[in-house]
Amino acid sequence: MKKIKIEICCGTTCFMLGSNDLLNIENEMPPELRGKAEIVALPCLELCNESKLAGAPYVRINGEVIEQANQEKIYAKMYALLEE
Ligand code: FES
Repeated sequence: MKKIKIEICCGTTCFMLGSNDLLNIENEMPPELRGKAEIVALPCLELCNESKLAGAPYVRINGEVIEQANQEKIYAKMYALLEE
């Protein structure tokens, strides 16, 4: 099965607003999700311009942007993708 691609923005804005807490997410995932994702840290995704600052930290999951990303949102998206 193809792994889910999780791209975590580690640009300054996202990093300061919490993406640093997501870098270790693989180790904190529920057991049924572990090993099912490829996790990549990327520089600024260019989504944090003035009007969208409030959306940080940004994460892309299989190309879909998740705003104000946190563990719960990432897990929910992963479960949804695994059910497809
Ligand atoms: S720092 Fe994350 S989108 Fe710019």
